Amino acid sequence: MRFTVAIDGPAAAGKGTISRGLAERFGFAHLDTGLLYRATGRKVLETGLSPEDAAKAVEPEDLVRDGLRTQAVAELASRVATVPEVRAALVAFQREFARREGGAVLDGRDIGTVICPDADVKLFVTAGADVRARRRFEELRAAGQAADFQDVLDEVKKRDARDMGRADAPMRAAEDAVQLDTSQLDIDDALAAAVAVVEARLEGQKV
Ligand code: CDP
Repeated sequence: MRFTVAIDGPAAAGKGTISRGLAERFGFAHLDTGLLYRATGRKVLETGLSPEDAAKAVEPEDLVRDGLRTQAVAELASRVATVPEVRAALVAFQREFARREGGAVLDGRDIGTVICPDADVKLFVTAGADVRARRRFEELRAAGQAADFQDVLDEVKKRDARDMGRADAPMRAAEDAVQLDTSQLDIDDALAAAVAVVEARLEGQKV
């Protein structure tokens, strides 16, 4: 069975948690596409390659290295993500992943609009910038990273603006995406809402 779930939205809206939860629940594979951009950004820094060459050189092992989740790497990621050649170099890997047998969940910024416009389910997960910054701040603290709330909030807003404002594949909800605002939802409620959307679609496919 091929079944693709596309989940887009801004930083710390809950995409990752929802994606992992859906993958576990339905036995789908999961790709956090932000890791591709994070690994690319880090490769540029470490090797001095151009962003395009760094994106072409990214390998699956690069996605599981430690240290990809820092704020500094997120900033690098959002910069290389504005380069059209970088995005182009990462398309094939994502589309292949989406088509894998057994179902796939991909989360990112442009999955429902550019990478998988024919996805079976599209979700656009949002939450207010303050709520998202608070979550990211708590995550960083829990991971033992020093963080200042105001800095995290500024960073979240700066990345939102860059992600929405770039010319190539800007972050936006696909017209046929189901919007899920998690500002007032805890993890269980957000996941339950996403599960309901996937189940409805799976049911609809049975003849
Ligand atoms: O987890 P968080 O939302 O903070 O970051 P991420 O999903 O790992 O993405 C890091 C950066 O990569 C984003 O700010 C985007 O600029 C970029 N990105 C993108 O352009 N397209 C994607 N499909 C995924 C990430």
